[in-house]
Amino acid sequence: MTRTVYVNGEYLPETEAKISIFDRGFLMADAVYEVTSVLGGKLVDFEGHAVRLERSLNELGMNAPCTKEELLEIHRKLVEENEIDEGLVYLQVTRGSDGDRDFVFPDPETTQPGLVLFTQNKPNLADSEASKKGAKIISIEDIRWGRRDIKTTQLLYPSMGKMMAKAAGADDAWMIEDGHVTEGTSNNAYFVKNGTIVTRPLSKDILHGITRAAVMRLAEEAQLKVEERLFTIDEAKEADEAFTTSASAFVMPVIEIDGATLGDGTPGPIAKQLREIYLDEARKKAI
Ligand code: PDD
Repeated sequence: MTRTVYVNGEYLPETEAKISIFDRGFLMADAVYEVTSVLGGKLVDFEGHAVRLERSLNELGMNAPCTKEELLEIHRKLVEENEIDEGLVYLQVTRGSDGDRDFVFPDPETTQPGLVLFTQNKPNLADSEASKKGAKIISIEDIRWGRRDIKTTQLLYPSMGKMMAKAAGADDAWMIEDGHVTEGTSNNAYFVKNGTIVTRPLSKDILHGITRAAVMRLAEEAQLKVEERLFTIDEAKEADEAFTTSASAFVMPVIEIDGATLGDGTPGPIAKQLREIYLDEARKKAI
């Protein structure tokens, strides 16, 4: 099926969608993005993603391409047109194009930001095989830039990290800076020891995950102990269990880190419990 996508004000078949070769998103990765999950044909935590998008745009001095209400309408129309029951909506805002390549930003008064959205159909997103098996993780050095709190499209190193994991027979990589785990290539990272969930505190070093915020709140509501602090990969390797969170995989259990098996090598009870309560609430609150 040919998808209907949204490009700069128009809904088009994906084969007809075009952007300028001078678009700064293409030339400079001068763009920010969001990925919102869809459950039961509805958007999960749209508000959280819209607020983070606004923050990313502000941090980079980019204008918003349209209002939050218009963004919601575009999301909903694409979900409906493409008959998405479970899946993702990808949104990208670029600084646009003033018709040439230049390191200097174009004048925001005269250059419109670009806006692209498309859907990804993932029929078993909630009931995924991967989440039942759990993920194998390797650790790699974190060599990304210093503003990882801004959700930019500079994703070459995270992609390379996934390839390094694949080459090592694993599923994903956690990144390490100054001896401490920052986050996964496209998710936030946690381990559980003696019933306490440990994750890195928010700063410019990691993305402020929308799923993270929900899972932390739900964990506390479920009377689970949560500790936000720096941690090493060795601590995580000796944990009872571990997991990651993201809009594209919700709560994903981790069963192996750098070849060390966690627990009995199957998804841990706390990761499973959090996945269940997260999905339950996400379905109820989706719009
Ligand atoms: N990635 N950390 C990084 C580096 C990420 O790229 C992501 C999300 C997260 C989790 O954030 P959230 O819970 O808001 O999805 C953490 C998205 C899903 C992606 O790039 O596809």
